[in-house]
Amino acid sequence: MRTILYLDHGKPEEVLQVAEVDAPASPGPCEVLVRVLLRPVHHGDLLNISGRYRPGAAVPQGGARPGLEGFGIVEQAGECVHLKPGTRVAFFPGAAAWGEKTLVPAEYVTEIPDGVSDEAAAQLHVTPLTTALLLRAVEASAAKAGHDVIVLTAAGGAVARLTISLLLERGYDVIGVVRREAGVNELNMVFPDLPVISTEREGWQQKLIAAAAGQPIGVVLDPVGGETAGAMAQLLGQGGNLIVYGNLSGDPVSVPGLLFPTRDLHICGVTVGRWAALPAEVRKADIRLALELAEQKADLFPVEATYDLADIGKAVAHAEAPGRAGMVLLASR
Ligand SMILES: NC(=O)c1ccc[n+]([C@@H]2O[C@H](COP(=O)([O-])OP(=O)(O)OC[C@H]3O[C@@H](n4cnc5c(N)ncnc54)[C@H](OP(=O)(O)O)[C@@H]3O)[C@@H](O)[C@H]2O)c1
Repeated sequence: MRTILYLDHGKPEEVLQVAEVDAPASPGPCEVLVRVLLRPVHHGDLLNISGRYRPGAAVPQGGARPGLEGFGIVEQAGECVHLKPGTRVAFFPGAAAWGEKTLVPAEYVTEIPDGVSDEAAAQLHVTPLTTALLLRAVEASAAKAGHDVIVLTAAGGAVARLTISLLLERGYDVIGVVRREAGVNELNMVFPDLPVISTEREGWQQKLIAAAAGQPIGVVLDPVGGETAGAMAQLLGQGGNLIVYGNLSGDPVSVPGLLFPTRDLHICGVTVGRWAALPAEVRKADIRLALELAEQKADLFPVEATYDLADIGKAVAHAEAPGRAGMVLLASR
């Protein structure tokens, strides 16, 4: 079968290759063999391939195969699994999902209802589950709906859009921050009443303070890091939380030290990388939420482009391009 493979860390366009490998063996009793049809290219996949999560760590001998989530059909299921061959499923966390077939523990396989498209199913886990983690982090903070403002940076991103939609439903006052002026209109097409500020022009901090209209900024949800996150930390109200879930800028966050004692700031982070270790009932509730979102808010799972595995170089370059209107998917149909 075909798979995507890399032998060394480096620029994804340069190190990724299509390779022929043996298909996985028959599933164990509690495993599912999935024929993968679609999978997303996440920023996190690209960080992994470039070696940024574990600087200096070597790629295992024989190469590494990316991909933690995907959508496909059951080819064969172990004896304690109720899924029949041909059932539409998505999975996370899996392994080597950028290959044509993969074995997944049954507890991480989600059956896909008819009302969910293949494209939304391919994005069912990483993005919505990160949204669930962020929502819990907001709810665990001291910020109160109707009192505090929640600000999201990189607000046009897939995680941010889903999170904004759920925060608004729960009665929070939300402000989006984007890096391009054009991004303001793009986000207002989805959320017409959302205040959106662009950091492209000088003075954006004053615009943000004006948009908050006297309410304290209780939480900033930030996947950008660098100057943006540092500036946002300084705008937080007393006891405010900077919740970090990415580092798109690649730069460290610098915050004036005296802000911690004087304003009692909190900085923490969430990662979907630890989601599988959560209690089973929490995971089940998160999957229910993800399926509801995919069924009822399909427009929040947009696809920018779909490439065959053979075009992996073009796919990852496209996934890294600014101004995308949706996820880049890799197909093997
Ligand atoms: N912690 C976790 O478990 C977890 C899970 C999923 C994702 N993430 C992280 O969350 C981030 C967003 O992922 P996503 O899938 O939601 O994103 P996405 O749909 O790929 O969109 C990325 C967004 O970030 C903006 N952006 C990119 N680089 C930026 C920069 N240097 N400064 C400011 N804005 C920038 C883009 O703006 P333009 O429209 O201007 O291009 C776009 O709106 C990534 O860092 C990803 O690694 C973390």
